[in-house]
Amino acid sequence: MRAAVLQAWNEPFQVREVHLDQPHQGEVLVKVVASGVCHSDLSIQRGLLPMMPPIIIGHEGAGIVEEVGPGVSSVKKGDHVVLTWLYSCGYCRDCGRGRPHLCEKAAMATMSGAMYDGTTRFQLDGQPLRHWCGSFAEYTVVPEQAVIPIRKDVPLTSACLVGCGVMTGVGAAMNTARVEPGDTVAVVGCGGVGLNVIQGAQVCGAERIIAVDLVEKKLELAKQFGATDTVNPSQGDWTDQVRALTAGKGADFVFEVVGNPNLIQQAFAAVRRGGKLVIVGVPPMGQQVTFPAMNFPLEEKGVIGSYYGSPRFRYDMPRILDLYMAKRIKLDELVSRQLKLDEINLAMSLIEQGEVARSVIVHG
Ligand SMILES: NC(=O)c1ccc[n+]([C@@H]2O[C@H](COP(=O)([O-])OP(=O)(O)OC[C@H]3O[C@@H](n4cnc5c(N)ncnc54)[C@H](O)[C@@H]3O)[C@@H](O)[C@H]2O)c1
Ligand SMILES: [Zn+2]
Ligand SMILES: [Zn+2]
Repeated sequence: MRAAVLQAWNEPFQVREVHLDQPHQGEVLVKVVASGVCHSDLSIQRGLLPMMPPIIIGHEGAGIVEEVGPGVSSVKKGDHVVLTWLYSCGYCRDCGRGRPHLCEKAAMATMSGAMYDGTTRFQLDGQPLRHWCGSFAEYTVVPEQAVIPIRKDVPLTSACLVGCGVMTGVGAAMNTARVEPGDTVAVVGCGGVGLNVIQGAQVCGAERIIAVDLVEKKLELAKQFGATDTVNPSQGDWTDQVRALTAGKGADFVFEVVGNPNLIQQAFAAVRRGGKLVIVGVPPMGQQVTFPAMNFPLEEKGVIGSYYGSPRFRYDMPRILDLYMAKRIKLDELVSRQLKLDEINLAMSLIEQGEVARSVIVHG
């Protein structure tokens, strides 16, 4: 079977024949039907995130269970599933506390690109090959915890987006920030993740949603996803523009969804007294930001991070799909292009150029 392999940082992906083992104890073999392409895939290709090539990536996948390993009970052959790129052991302190995305045991396994026991399931030219989720492969093997069964009436070419961008964006508004009816929200960066912060804030009842992006096409799209106002930083200081739209006060929540340290730093000035800056974009490794310290105690302003939209996977992913079926969350409109696996490098350049909300690789 075929997979797009990242052999080294800053090199194009190569579509290669790879070998995949049968699922071991507690693992599931999934026929990947579709995979969105997220900006994090581009960051990995550029060596900006701690993920070592050679590796198979792609982490916004959905597919059909092909085979289950011994001991797997939550899914069976034929089930439709969304793949999660992070999973949880179910037993540690954070899992017990209802924060499975912060499970340390699973985080270590995830970032290493290997399975829990440190071994790999893929081989290339007879050599072990790591994978992270692996939705840029036609089939993948992942732990049972990373496989979320979903309703069968949602097309997998749209459901895949719940595997990263939709969960991350909608969850940042609903779960991390807990936006309330009447809140004012600003969203900086209206790509595949930011558009989902916008629609998540809308579902939460935000009264004012200000979309901020350099690309006019993205701002138009943002309006379709629920933005009430738009701001283009090329037309003057964007934080001034946000304050002007909010009677000089700023927004209750400002979401940074680009991963740019300068924007993160600027964004603090667009946050209202008592409000929060929510960092969703992932800046390159090692970058620092500073904030005026006094505003924390005297204005109760705060800065929080949001990882994967603080999900409870088996609750949030199915409920997002229910909201889609109820026409309260858009998925199909996020798919700007459907591409073949052989067009993976085109997909990467489209996201780099800011051309698409999402490209989706549809496996043949
Ligand atoms: N926190 C998480 O768990 C998580 C999960 C997935 C992705 N991410 C991160 O979220 C970020 C966004 O991902 P995406 O897939 O939506 O990316 P994307 O490329 O689809 O969207 C980025 C958007 O930001 C806009 N932008 C770029 N520079 C800008 C600037 N200076 N001012 C205003 N807008 C600007 C672009 O025009 C584009 O619309 C990335 O950093 C990605 O790594 C985080
Ligand atoms: Zn992603
Ligand atoms: Zn755990």
